[in-house]
Amino acid sequence: MTTQEFLGKKEFTINNQMVSESCPSNIALIKYWGKYDNQIPANPSISYTLNHCKTNTVMEFLADENFSVQTFLAGNEEVKFAEKIEKYFKNIEQYLPWILKGRYIIKTENTFPHSSGIASSASGFGAIAKCLIKLDEVFSGELSEQEALRKASFLARLGSGSACRSLYNGLVVWGESQIKGSSDLFAVKYPDDEIHEIFKNFNDWVLLIHEGQKSVSSTVGHGLMNTNPYAERRFQEARENFEPMKKILKTGDIQGFIKLVEHEALTLHAMMMMSDPAFILMKTGTLEVINKIWNFRNETALPLFFTLDAGANVHLLFPNDGNEEKIKSFIETDLLQHTQKNGVVKDVMKF
Ligand code: DP6
Repeated sequence: MTTQEFLGKKEFTINNQMVSESCPSNIALIKYWGKYDNQIPANPSISYTLNHCKTNTVMEFLADENFSVQTFLAGNEEVKFAEKIEKYFKNIEQYLPWILKGRYIIKTENTFPHSSGIASSASGFGAIAKCLIKLDEVFSGELSEQEALRKASFLARLGSGSACRSLYNGLVVWGESQIKGSSDLFAVKYPDDEIHEIFKNFNDWVLLIHEGQKSVSSTVGHGLMNTNPYAERRFQEARENFEPMKKILKTGDIQGFIKLVEHEALTLHAMMMMSDPAFILMKTGTLEVINKIWNFRNETALPLFFTLDAGANVHLLFPNDGNEEKIKSFIETDLLQHTQKNGVVKDVMKF
């Protein structure tokens, strides 16, 4: 599949439209960290799509007015975001030839706190791409369900890499890998029948260790991989990690899963520590939580583990396997105290 196949149809008829879409966020298990031009990932990644953490977007298109974009987040006008979207729309004109032929009013709302560090760019660009595909179908003709999803994922990727994975439920792969049909241009669903039941009923509770602006944006973070002396080895390792991951998912090897997922999170942070300039994205609370999780596992053998994004917050992962109440009460009594304001976002994976 090449980018040619995503080019927009030359024939189209535009008129005023209002569309709305919703898109969830996702959490990566094998991480995307490092990219080439045109949002091509340096290595494949796999993520879980969340259920409750979503962006809801209403897009109004006023045909034949001068191109401009106005954005509102939770009712407040966001000029910086509008500038970003204008740039994004100009960048994807070849795939949607009508896109600059009108004015946009875009209203978005996240179901999770803005400062939580939950990837709002993933759900945000996912929802925008879905709105654009809806308009494209009205103006240029219907696509099959699979084509529409694929094109939405392709367009979302050009807004924010990880967003392309939010278009599908369950486990989702982006980047050329051993997974059938996978591509650097869009994400694909990991085959459900290759996933053991234990991985289909999973929790992700996000501990808000540090609320507020991240110390490094993902754009800067990805860029630092260009000069990181360990980058190539890391990209290779991420590719190699798909081999054990496939077996783990198939056989329900929860211990293997825990080891691999935690290793991926720590590797992402290690890469940032070895960048120039260096960044330490964890806070004291992050380390205290990690140590407590490891002690808890040693003492109870219960499957509570973590992953991290490029920030201080901790994603607590655990299956609903009959032991989840013990894990939940441990989180409430021992881990919540390390958050800034008792902040926790409780989500589950969407299958
Ligand atoms: C650490 O998708 O936010 O969450 O493509 O520059 O928008 P851009 O980056 P972004 O990077 C996400 C990085 C990550 C890991 C992951 O989601 O795979």
